[in-house]
Amino acid sequence: MPASLPPSELHFADAPAVDEVPGPKSRRMRERQQATESSAVLYPTEVPLAFREGRGATLEDVDGNRYLDFFAGISVLNVGHANPYVTEAVTEQAERLPHSLDFPTEARLNLVGKLEEIAPGGLAGDSRVVFGGPTGSDAVEGSIKLAKQYTGNRGMIAFYGGFHGETSGAFSLSADGKYKRDYTPLLAEVEHAPFPYPFRQDCDPQAAVERSLETVKTLLGDRYGAMPNPAGVWVEPIQGEGGIVVPPAGFLSGLRDLCDEHDVPLVVDEIQAGMGRTGEWWGSDHYDVTPDAITVAKGIGNGHPLSATIYREELDTWGPGGHTGTFRGYNVAMRAALRSIEYIEAHDLLDHATDLGVSIRKRLCGVESPLLAQVRGLGLFVGAEMVDADGIPSADVAAAVRRRCMERGVLVWGGGRDDNVVRLLPPLVMTREQAETGLDVVRDAIENVTAKRVD
Ligand SMILES: Cc1ncc(COP(=O)(O)O)c(C=O)c1O
Repeated sequence: MPASLPPSELHFADAPAVDEVPGPKSRRMRERQQATESSAVLYPTEVPLAFREGRGATLEDVDGNRYLDFFAGISVLNVGHANPYVTEAVTEQAERLPHSLDFPTEARLNLVGKLEEIAPGGLAGDSRVVFGGPTGSDAVEGSIKLAKQYTGNRGMIAFYGGFHGETSGAFSLSADGKYKRDYTPLLAEVEHAPFPYPFRQDCDPQAAVERSLETVKTLLGDRYGAMPNPAGVWVEPIQGEGGIVVPPAGFLSGLRDLCDEHDVPLVVDEIQAGMGRTGEWWGSDHYDVTPDAITVAKGIGNGHPLSATIYREELDTWGPGGHTGTFRGYNVAMRAALRSIEYIEAHDLLDHATDLGVSIRKRLCGVESPLLAQVRGLGLFVGAEMVDADGIPSADVAAAVRRRCMERGVLVWGGGRDDNVVRLLPPLVMTREQAETGLDVVRDAIENVTAKRVD
């Protein structure tokens, strides 16, 4: 079947087109939500909008305002909101057989075959897939059990600035002290090492890599500094929540070497960076490294929740029931996932993500503002690190940029260790023209914040 509408025809044609933001209907719906839902609701506290329809890389709110979407549900809607090629299969599957535990179905087997084909490096053709529950955290929990079961060990190594989810095991690997402190103790025997972040560490890229690898080496093998029984190393190939931190060359390959030397699995968390976001299927593809396992969620089902852990065949020692649960066979999301991959392939969206990412970063780098400290990224995984007039990381400046963008119909997201990074993660189907229009707004927002601060 042809992959239906081309990317250029997926969107509301007139976005951005905004009047009052947030409009009266959005405000009323937000009030209703606040009156009834949990205080834990997060996203609308920062983007106080109520949406009613999404198409491609555009969104419409309940007041009829239309937006360019540069956050794609946090790297989820890679082939765009309500992509008809995905929706067609989803509808057909929902009418026939939505749920079937882990019994074999065409939907399941076809997706597993495709994942094995696009898996990174040597995992292609030599992998097994286990579906988790629907969220990224579920995939990470699966990878923790897998590594512990395979090695018989318990210790885990992760990185500063890393985020792997909020269930107990995944939260233990995440490095976010602010949100973790109310829930400790989490899993015992987790150590965090520095993630190379030359800009923050105020050193050159090579020194940042060496510092990081030295710590991991000590944890893995130094007689007087090591964890007694490491089960694996968990790492994002490019940190997402941490602020789009792209590690310098040598880091991931160095970790690969250390894991080989000490015979522990290297688990690469591709939940945010994977599924084509960086212009390759996987973040680790940029570094020519074959992980022992990867975790996948977010973009895989293009909004239909699904997660998977894909791992080297040799690790497959846990046997029937080794990792089980009810919702590990949602055929609807599996059909969505296969269709999303086919759509990316049919429309060369990996190359498009690479090219568009270069031009977005170039336009951002051209902003002359002392408050824009660094622009980073790969493909459509872009971060702009904002600081205040004294060069200190500034969440206020980043929030002001985001607010001004929203008021002008462009939705960008935040992140970073100090919430000071403006994150741009548009659907891979965003057109060049849409990106140009959006970047005019983002650039203007950054310059405007500058003007306010300097005045
Ligand atoms: C790299 C990474 N791993 C894991 C997760 C957790 O995924 P979920 O929120 O679906 O549980 C996230 C979520 O942001 C993530 O970015």
